[in-house]
Amino acid sequence: KRGKRPAGAPDKALAKPVTKIGVVGAGLMAQQFALLFVRRLKVPVVITDISQEQIDKGLAYIHGELDKLLAKGKLSQDDANRLKALVSGTTDKADFADADWIIEAIYENLEAKQNVFAEIEKYASDTAVLATNTSSLSVEQIGAKLAHPERLVGFHFFNPVAVMPLIEVVKTPQTDDETLSTAMVVAKKLFKTAVITADTPGFVVNRVLAKVLGEAMHAVDTGTPFEVVNTASAPLGLPMTPFELLELVGLKVGAHVLDTHHAAFPDRFFESRNLHSLAEHGRIFERDGKGKIKGF
Ligand code: CAA
Repeated sequence: KRGKRPAGAPDKALAKPVTKIGVVGAGLMAQQFALLFVRRLKVPVVITDISQEQIDKGLAYIHGELDKLLAKGKLSQDDANRLKALVSGTTDKADFADADWIIEAIYENLEAKQNVFAEIEKYASDTAVLATNTSSLSVEQIGAKLAHPERLVGFHFFNPVAVMPLIEVVKTPQTDDETLSTAMVVAKKLFKTAVITADTPGFVVNRVLAKVLGEAMHAVDTGTPFEVVNTASAPLGLPMTPFELLELVGLKVGAHVLDTHHAAFPDRFFESRNLHSLAEHGRIFERDGKGKIKGF
């Protein structure tokens, strides 16, 4: 049965082959999707980061997850070994020269991302597709220093990557059909549902989440005790309360998402008074040693 073409998707015949993948950044999201790329596409995946320690952590995470899949009987020993051998780490972006899909997931800072892409373009082949996992920065602005912005696309995963079914494919006014088609085909090979969104703040999912998370934080900021907000928002039917979700995505990322929305739509999104100090502290929940969770 022929699948229906997703809304706005160009012909999949335009997609470029992906035979080697470069991942820039080896943090929380990058580790998870590097693992997914190697499992589903079964091509070499090279991870880079400015810190060798972070690269080692990323590789250790991927090896550990492959070992868990092996223990669960979801992978054979041979397959686990083969997949491990396909993943490597380097601090040298020259290793990206023959990658045809390069995806970035460094911290959410526009200038840093612009510089990363300008640097990648020096090493990457002319035909490589470039993707960013940004959660709420403008993809077009991220590509502002590129000589070829038409090959840049947003490719936004959700945490936990192995479980969440959606990818937002973000099309800028420059993104060409080959790039968009490649992104849609890659998403399909990852067994994800891809939707094409406009390059607007928060795309779709984070705009909705920023509303929920921002309102929950605002309730705390304006005097309702943290525990009350957490308990009161539990029956919304979401798999996690807003605060559990904030911890899952990372408080710094969450604070950045809220700031971006407040800057773009100051009349509709709050700037949280407490979220930045919580982000510095590193977590929302403290356990009291008896398993009881205390908000603060
Ligand atoms: N990595 C791999 N697998 C994971 C995982 C992880 N981090 N977390 C959970 N899983 C798997 C488990 O192994 C389990 O798989 P099996 O059924 O094969 O054993 C399955 O997911 C269910 O896990 P649990 O039973 O432990 O937990 P749960 O049923 O409570 O579900 C959850 C956990 C999937 C995280 C669920 O709570 C959930 O969906 N939460 C909401 C997550 C969400 O909304 N994410 C989007 C955040 S926004 C974002 O990421 C983008 C951004 O830009 C900020």
